[in-house]
Amino acid sequence: MKRLTVPAIRRRKKDGVTADPIVMLTAYTARQAQLLDEHCDLLLVGDSLGQVIYGLPSSVPVTLEMMIAHGAAVVRGSYHAAVIVDMPFGTYEQSPQQAFENAARLLKETGCAGVKLEGGVAMAETVRFLNERGIPVMGHIGLTPQAVNVLGGYNARGRSDAEAAKIVADAKALDDAGAFSIVIEGVVEPIAIAATQAIACPSIGIGGSAQCDGQVLVTEDMLGMFERVPRFVKRYADMASLVSQAAANYAAEVRDRSFPGIEQTYQPK
Ligand code: KIV
Ligand code: NA
Repeated sequence: MKRLTVPAIRRRKKDGVTADPIVMLTAYTARQAQLLDEHCDLLLVGDSLGQVIYGLPSSVPVTLEMMIAHGAAVVRGSYHAAVIVDMPFGTYEQSPQQAFENAARLLKETGCAGVKLEGGVAMAETVRFLNERGIPVMGHIGLTPQAVNVLGGYNARGRSDAEAAKIVADAKALDDAGAFSIVIEGVVEPIAIAATQAIACPSIGIGGSAQCDGQVLVTEDMLGMFERVPRFVKRYADMASLVSQAAANYAAEVRDRSFPGIEQTYQPK
């Protein structure tokens, strides 16, 4: 199977219609990528790895080095999906030049197909700069977690007329600048739909609408690894119970010396 390309993903939306919705999940490790790859069009190495893998309080402290290490692992573990790597906070906002330098490192050192960065109108010039120089960019608007210190939390966006208008304007600006798709996160449904209809490139919803051109979730969230998840997460498995039950069974068998059994030990001939 040939790996999907960014232009192929972009072409899924034709004349405002996406007959075949785009499937994206996050992946941070090679094994996780191997398991998800055949089911997904896009694998996102999200900076959510800060919280999910590293136990950080937000994605703000995530570094380029972390994204390179995990991005390379996900590329090595996949052969079908296009791999997109998040640009972490502080590595792209200052100037298009800063963004290019760091995005080029992500492409060169991980082998990923493109990068994602947060922000709308304010980032449009940067998106154009990267795209014109060979770096495909996915936008990310609405609830942008790297801006948590400005937004003051992770509440849904687009409830006021001003906020709703800004979200649609952000979507248009990124689309005009050449973003190949745009994540719309945590936005009231009518505005997620309006933004989707306002752009030629595909939208990817997370806490958006089923009418977005694709969907993304954090894999650990949809696997049920966490007790607390946002409203927009649907749990497709209950991994937390499975893992904790397996650990409990192992611990009990170690303590009563029933593990290892005869099948797990080497006997002399
Ligand atoms: O970091 C991340 O996982 C993301 C997705 C949830 C869109 O940006
Ligand atoms: Na992210």
